[in-house]
Parts: sequence; C-alpha cells; structure tokens
Amino acid sequence: MSPGMGLSFTAMNPNSIESTMKESRVFPPDEEFSKHAHIRSMEQYRALYEKSLNDPEAFWGEMADALHWFAPPREILVDERPHARWFVGGTTNIAYNCLDRHLSSLRRNKAAILWEGEPGETRTLTYHQLHREVCRFANVLRKLGVRTGDRVAIYMGMVPEIAVAMLACARIGAPHMVIFGGFAADAVRDRINDSKASLVVTCDGSWRRGQVVPLKAIVDKAIAECPSVRHTVVFKRTGERVNMEPGRDHYWQEVIEAVNANSTPVPVESEHPLFILYTSGTTGKPKGIVHTTGGYMVGTHVTSKYVFDLRENDTYFCTADVGWITGHSYVVYGPLLNGATVLMYEGAPNFPDQGRLWQLCERYGVTIFYTAPTAIRAFMRWGEQWPMKADLSCLRLLGSVGEPINPEAWMWYQRVIGNARCPVVDTWWQTETGAIMLSPLPGATPTKPGSATLPFFGIEADVVRKDGTRCAPNEGGFLVIKRPWPSMARTIYGDDERYQKYFTEIPGVYFTGDGARRDDDGYFWLMGRVDDVLNVAGHRLGTAEIESALVGHRAVAEAAVVGRPDELKGQGLVCFVTLRPGFAATRELKQVLAEHVASEIGRFARPDMVRFADALPKTRSGKIMRRLLKEIAGGGETQGDTTTLEDLSVLAALRASDDE
Ligand code: WT7
Repeated sequence: MSPGMGLSFTAMNPNSIESTMKESRVFPPDEEFSKHAHIRSMEQYRALYEKSLNDPEAFWGEMADALHWFAPPREILVDERPHARWFVGGTTNIAYNCLDRHLSSLRRNKAAILWEGEPGETRTLTYHQLHREVCRFANVLRKLGVRTGDRVAIYMGMVPEIAVAMLACARIGAPHMVIFGGFAADAVRDRINDSKASLVVTCDGSWRRGQVVPLKAIVDKAIAECPSVRHTVVFKRTGERVNMEPGRDHYWQEVIEAVNANSTPVPVESEHPLFILYTSGTTGKPKGIVHTTGGYMVGTHVTSKYVFDLRENDTYFCTADVGWITGHSYVVYGPLLNGATVLMYEGAPNFPDQGRLWQLCERYGVTIFYTAPTAIRAFMRWGEQWPMKADLSCLRLLGSVGEPINPEAWMWYQRVIGNARCPVVDTWWQTETGAIMLSPLPGATPTKPGSATLPFFGIEADVVRKDGTRCAPNEGGFLVIKRPWPSMARTIYGDDERYQKYFTEIPGVYFTGDGARRDDDGYFWLMGRVDDVLNVAGHRLGTAEIESALVGHRAVAEAAVVGRPDELKGQGLVCFVTLRPGFAATRELKQVLAEHVASEIGRFARPDMVRFADALPKTRSGKIMRRLLKEIAGGGETQGDTTTLEDLSVLAALRASDDE
C-alpha cells in the first residue's frame, strides 16, 4: 500500500471523494504514561477543547500569559477574514522568550542544543551559551546594516549556527528567510529576489553522506543575479576553499570576534513578520508564506508542550532539516520556547551506516523522536537489525509528520522503534498553519494506525463537500479549518491576493488542499492532496516549478509532471515531455533532463522517470489533463471522463510510448 491510498475522485460524483481504506485497530494510551502527562484523559482533552472553542479569548489569553510580553495584548483576536490579527497591541520578542526568559532559572546551564556533525564531532550549547552567541550575531547583523524589517536569507547546513542566525534575526526584528540547503542555485536566486534580502548567511560547505555540498559556491552563482544582496556571512564548517569578495563576504568566525555580547532584544508588535518560508503551490512560482511573531510564538509553544508532552528532563530529537517548516517550529522555536534540550544532527541517516539515528538516540538518551513516514519506510526497508543493535529504552514518545502514514509503517514504528511501549503521535499540519493542527495527545487520545485523530485546542476542523456542506461519517471530502488560529500564515509575501485564495475555494473557511474523512468516532483520516501539489519524501513540490525547469531546457517543447505512488517516497515524479524539432528521443536525453531538474531545483526533486510523447492530452481550451497522465504514470487504465479531451488518439499513443 502507498500513502495517499484511498484517494480517488469518482467520475460519477466529482463533489466528493471515495475512501477505500479500512483500519480498525485502536491503541488506548498507556496508563503509566497518562499518569504523568500534561493532559491525562479524554475528559480533560474534551473539556479544554470545548473551552478553547466556546471562549477562545479566555483560552488563548491564558496561553499567551505563559510567555513574556513587553506590553500585554489589548485584544486577543481581530477576526477580519481572510485576515486575522492576534494578540493585538502586545509587544514581544520570540528570541527573548526562547533564551533570556530561561536565564534566571535552573535552565541557565541546561543544554539547549546538543549537536553532532556527520563526521562525528559533538558540541553542546547551554541556554546561557546559545544566548551569548545569538546576542553576538545580532550585533554582527546590525553592524552589516541590517535594520528591523529587513529580510535576511539563511542558506546553511544543519549546524547550531543556523538556529543562532534565525534567533539573531528575530532578536532585532529582521524577518528571516531560510532556504533548505538542498536547493540549487536557481531556486536560491528566485527566493532571494522575491524576498529582496539584503544579507545572506551561509556556510563554506556542509556534510552530506561523506560529501561536501558547496553552499558558498552555490550562493555565489545565485547572488550574481540578486541586486538586493549587499553582504554575505560565511560560517566555516568544512574548510573548503571558497571565493570571498572583499567588502561583500565576511567569515562568521572573524566578524563575531569584533562585536560584544550585549544586545537588547527589540520589542516588536505581535503582528511583526517573523519569517518568510517558501512553499509550493499549484501554479506559478513558490509562495513566500509569511508568519508573524505573537501568534506563531504562542502556537508553537503550546503545541510542543502538549503534543510532545515535554518535560524538563526530555531529550528531544526531530530529524527534520531546519530549512523546512518542521525544523522552524519543532527543532528551533517550539522546543526552545519550552526550555527543552534539542538534539540536532547534521548529516544523512544512513551514514556511515543505517544505524546512525539509533546510535544517536542511544548515546544522547533521546526520549522523544519525531520523523517523517518516508524515513520510517526507509528504516523498514533497511531492516530491524539496525534499531535492534541500539539501546532505545530511553524513548518514551514517537511522532510522525509530512504525509499520510500508512498503517503498516505506523505499526512497525510503534513495535520496532517504540518497543510497543511508546505512544505514536501522527501530527497533521502545513507550512501555512505554522503549528500542529490535528494530533493525538499522548496521555489522552486512543490512537488508530494511520489516523491523525483529533483537532488540537482552538482548531475547528471539518471535512466538507465542494459546496461547503459537512460530509457524512466516512464520506471523503475536503479538510477545512473553520476559524482563525494564532499560528496561521498572515499573507503571501508580495501577493496578498494569492493568499486570499485559501479562503475563497470554499467561502469563509481555510481550504487546506487535503482530502480527508472522519470516521464514526470523529477521527480524521488524511487522504493526500486534492490539487496538483506533489509530496515527494515529505517535501511539497509544485508541478509548475518542475515543468518550468523542464521547458527551460532547449530540447523541450512542452512538459507535464505528475506523481505516481512510490513505496518509499510517497510519490515519485514522472515527467511527460514533448521535444522541439531536431532533438531525438534518446535514453541519454532522458538522463540529461532528469539531471537538469535535479540541478535547477535540487537533488530531492530528481524525476524517477522521463517519458517522451508526440503530444500531451489537452482539453479544447488547452489545459493539460493531468488526471489522465497520472493514470498512465501509475500504470493503470485511464478511467473516467475523456469527453473533454481534444484528441483521443493522443492517449493511445502515450500509453504505447516507451516507459522504461
Ligand atoms: C502537506 C503540508 C507540516 C510539516 C511538513 C510538511 C501533508 C503533513 C501530514 C500527516 C497526512 C500530512 C499534507 C499537507 N501532511 N503532515 N500527518 N498526515 N498528511 O509541510 O510542506 O507545508 O506540506 O503535507 O498533504 O497539506 P508542507
């Protein structure tokens, strides 16, 4: 079975989605676990959930009170849908809340970040030390001309300094824009140009599976076409020889010596932008999702606390890269707001062998482990012998995020990694939601393998038909959120109209783009995306961006990209391509085009298959019919309506085309 299973639009009734999955196992929470948990029973969950919906002002006001505000909020929520403002009138600073707030308590000398490099070096930064580094780097940013409101791009590997850079930006109110270190130069360039960042923080290189990713060289290539960039700061990690342009490029280790460690945090308005993070949409260029300060802070703080049931002596390990939203919310901000100890690992999970993550769990005494289904399926394939070699008895809670987890992977995770002892929390959320929206609470919620279970406090989620009416139990439909929540995205950078589309698909509610059903207990079962967005190894990829990379190659006339089920990655990319006159459809050209996508977008987006075609199936209005291509890519028969197809013979030719 593959994730996204059970999702199919019925030709007969395009208004709803047919679900085919049946799963009836239920795991009640462990009694011992519940006894010590923040939320200990379903009664407690339901009471608090009801309060959060019936009196949101009181509920979120209390949640905000747990954090420091320089000026307290005057109003909890101003709901002007599609826009909402939270904690209005309040001023705060999220870096202050992540760091300074802990310095007057026993947490002062507690480890904030435990770090291990891929080659094996280790570092520990206590809250006091992390605070010091952040203050110094904030002063570096100031010295290089960064002012409150200026955007700072961060393109680094997984070193503690990536968190230092983000927190330093937050300290002075300069929105950060982190670009995942796996992106290629063109993607880096486009994101910098869209956000008009004035400074780029990077590394000379970063370690990945024993190889160096030459980050600074990629930045050089990118910013040759970025007029907004005035400076770069380069953290020396691998010791590469890199090109340093005098006046523009500065080594982190040198500029940090020239500043002191005194830095007053800038109190910013609750709605001051905290960061921009690009994510894929269905059409056109990536969307710069904008999150603001107060609501995001409250949302990540409270979800980390309750979903991971954080305790003072936990060692928390989230395997996500900081370059994705999971890394923002649940490697950096959420855990540090809670004063937790975070383990951060630089490299690949299978280097030097497939036991690396379990070695890390054993050696650092990891208690909470949070990863993605695509990783879990890889662990399954590598075999039980790897986790068996390590002592995983410290683990007490497991989490999953990024795509639907198939029940088999859930069961394996629970049995082999959790030793049938640890609760598993399947957390559903998105870059746009900022924080976890649907998830079990580990001491309260009975879990069902493959279900993200129930909504978090304050989240009014539902499954509806296209006309907005509620689906019956077990009827598949569209997952929507019916009221604003604190950590929701506020806009798309430079394109608020595009942001408003989230609220017009089904008027008045937030449209997630995911299909889902609720079972008889009200549990949510996610069924995958309903739009053209693909989910490859937990990474959201827009077909449009990949298609535009393909047609950017001189051999390509037209391209259409679809996903097909992939056992490991969830979805794999299949590209249908028509060639320009004079280019021969050779096997070599397929390789070249696959490489071309990898080098334009990043290796993680490398297509599994390139197929040549004489023509692509189109409607009379010229729209490519992806549904048909999807069916062909999946190896199935094309079903359903083809009456809008302009030229039926195209289909037969496509099916007959070579597909090695
Ligand atoms: C999309 C959001 C949010 C963290 C990482 C991805 C899918 C995410 C789950 C889950 C089923 C999930 C959805 C969603 N997704 N978590 N637990 N069960 N699907 O963030 O790149 O913004 O992608 O990932 O399709 O819409 P993202």
